[in-house]
Parts: sequence; C-alpha cells; structure tokens
Amino acid sequence: MIVAIDGPAGAGKSSIARQAAQELKFDFLDTGALYRAVTLATIRAQIDFEDTQALVKVASEVELEWDGDIILLNGEDVSGAIRSPTVTDAIRFLADEPEIRRQLSAQQRRIAEGRDIVTEGRDQGAEVFPEAECKFFLTASPEVRAERRLEQLKSEGRHLSFEQILTAQNKRDLEDESRPVGRLRAAEDAIVLNTDDMTPEEVLAWVLKQVREVMEKRQTQ
Ligand code: C5P
Repeated sequence: MIVAIDGPAGAGKSSIARQAAQELKFDFLDTGALYRAVTLATIRAQIDFEDTQALVKVASEVELEWDGDIILLNGEDVSGAIRSPTVTDAIRFLADEPEIRRQLSAQQRRIAEGRDIVTEGRDQGAEVFPEAECKFFLTASPEVRAERRLEQLKSEGRHLSFEQILTAQNKRDLEDESRPVGRLRAAEDAIVLNTDDMTPEEVLAWVLKQVREVMEKRQTQ
C-alpha cells in the first residue's frame, strides 16, 4: 500500500511522513533526498548548471541508494551534506529537467514496488504514484511555515531572520509550483489539509486515522 504525502517546503510533511511510517510499520521514502543527492553529485563534479546535457549525464551515472533512513551517493552516506544551503539553492536546475525527473521517478517506483510505504515529496500523488491508495497534500500559510522553520533553525543553533526565511521560502515555492514537469500540486483525489492551526501531533493523528480507515476498508473488501 502506498501513502503519498506532498506539499510545499516547511509544511512539516517530512517529519509527519517519517513518523506515520514508523507508527504504521511501513517503509519511508524521502524523495527530496534523491533530488538533493544528485544535486550534490553535480556540485562536486563542478558541472555548469546551464549545461543540461552534462547534468543529465551525471544524474544517470551516479549510484543512489535509499535505505529507508539514510541516502548513499556512490556508497557514501551524504544524509548530512545534502542539507546544505548550496545544495538547496541549486536543486531547481536538476528538478526542472524532465529527463532527470523521469529517472528519479522510475527509481522511486522501484523502491516502492511490493512494499507498504509512506512516500513524501512534491509530485508523489499527482505524478509518480497516481495509483496510491492514500494521498495527502499538507500545506500551511507562508508565514506559519516560515515561523516553524525559524524555530527549527533556532533549536539547531542557527539564526536567520523571519524575513530571510520567508523570502527564500517564497522563491522555492515559486520554483516548485512553476516547473513544467512534476510541479508541486495536489492530485485531484488527494485530501488537502491546512495545518496552520494544528500541532504536529494533531497532524500525525489525523493522517494515521485516514490511513487506518482505508486499511480497514481494504481488509473488508
Ligand atoms: O523535500 P525537500 O525540501 O528536501 O526537497 C528539496 C527540493 O527537491 C524541492 O524544493 C524540490 O525542488 C525538489 N523535489 C522535487 N520533487 C520531489 C521532491 C523534491 O522536485 N518529489
């Protein structure tokens, strides 16, 4: 069974997806980590981001492995390195490229094959797993997402202003929403949840309730 969770950056979907997978005893797939790892590979190879052919070539040659928690790039654990702002700023060059999306989407389908899995990203319900039994689109207002990010960074000892975070986030939203293939959008049959007034615990409980209802229905069919 596939549970697809999509939504914009900072909507909290990553930690919800991870925890939901744990509670349900499902596998977990962070598809952003795949995009991030390929981006890191092109940065390390010093590829010109305007050279799409070279980007596609590197993307097709790297070996990516997702073990359910960490991401390996050619055998090296890059789970920390892929979170750097340099990687985040460069992802769009790869995520905009249809051929790279095709390769990574195929890899995501291979990972999910035959498994019970919670998968999280931007295009999971609408593009990669249109057949997913449960589709959620978690969102929140830009201000609330920026505020949450501010708190998260503070807890990690990093200090950025609210305005800096909001500006970067608006830029990323625009990039994610406007790419020709695989843009951020809710699938027609996704349940959209605005989490502005919800705690993470409430969002998790809500997601689990929805999934368990679908599981029960499937069992009685
Ligand atoms: O989820 P995360 O913020 O780590 O994703 C980083 C970036 O990777 C997103 O902003 C988006 O550009 C890209 N991405 C994507 N499709 C996905 C997951 C991530 O284009 N399924």
